[in-house]
Amino acid sequence: MLILSIESSCDETSVAVTDGRKVLSNIVSTQIEEHKIYGGVVPEIASRRHTENISAVCRAAIKKAGIEYKDLDAVAVTFAPGLIGALLVGVNFAKGLSYTLGIPLIPVHHLRSHIAANYITNENLKPPFLCLTVSGGNTLLTKVEDYTVFKPIGKTMDDAAGECLDKAARCMGLSYPGGVNIDKIATEADTKKYPLPYPKTENKFDFSFSGLKTAIVNITHNAAQKKEEIDVPVLAATVRQKVCDILIDKTMSAVREENAKTVVIAGGVSANSELRERMLKKCREEGIKLYFPELKYCGDNAAMVGVQAFYEYESGNIASLDLNAAATLPIDYR
Ligand code: KG4
Repeated sequence: MLILSIESSCDETSVAVTDGRKVLSNIVSTQIEEHKIYGGVVPEIASRRHTENISAVCRAAIKKAGIEYKDLDAVAVTFAPGLIGALLVGVNFAKGLSYTLGIPLIPVHHLRSHIAANYITNENLKPPFLCLTVSGGNTLLTKVEDYTVFKPIGKTMDDAAGECLDKAARCMGLSYPGGVNIDKIATEADTKKYPLPYPKTENKFDFSFSGLKTAIVNITHNAAQKKEEIDVPVLAATVRQKVCDILIDKTMSAVREENAKTVVIAGGVSANSELRERMLKKCREEGIKLYFPELKYCGDNAAMVGVQAFYEYESGNIASLDLNAAATLPIDYR
């Protein structure tokens, strides 16, 4: 089943052609350079660039896949959650294609597609499994009971892990997207030099990163007031270690409580080198199977949308032309 998929939820305009779990093309046009000067994504600029880029990205995806529009069986699109203006560009473009080509329109939830990035990389992976989804806007622990059946068991009460890393990086003078730059520059953590809080949450599987974010803001502000230098590689390593401590502790205790045999990590922060290394070690020790997406599928891309769309279609999730975008929507909305 040939699906043309579209992703425009944040600052990447991406179009892919997929056939089941097979990726025929996956074109990603990133706006990172433009948003860098503002230290984060400017929603209005993101929407404008999506509008300018989407036709060319779509043509490139069709060309790279070696197909023609008439060969397509369906069009899929990320419709939620994300930046509303950015999402609307993709949704309207997808509706236009669906209408003119006379093919079904498949709505895809952004976090479901991040999880599906793992199906591209790991051929044999299938539900049920426990999934930690960590991105710039979300941190979520979910039981994935089937390809389209999700049971969230923990979520962030405030900021996402990626947002905390991005903000920490900004305070340290590192450029956007900060999570990647923290990962690159981090050396040895020194928790005595830079003590950071471990958040408490009422539900043991929920997350909270705002206290950690504030602690880093305070450390850097206090140093600036006293005209002291921050040891950036050490603070970066300390922050990375704390974020990983939180993510790993919660995931592994959910694994034990839910008696999960397979763990999947998804989303932009799943590219983090310390998270990968430590999770691999932990899961090996406890006899748990662990899966990550390939690095090129960790960030936002349309290939993962196409793969999830295949399963959404099989489960009967087809939209009509009045499909709207939504800035927020739980993963188990349906
Ligand atoms: O999934 P994603 O591309 O976009 C959203 O859907 O939010 O995630 C972006 C987030 C950013 O916060 C970025 O800093 C973080 O993923 N990120 C990383 C790494 N690569 C990207 N965080 C930590 N370590 C990395 N290597």
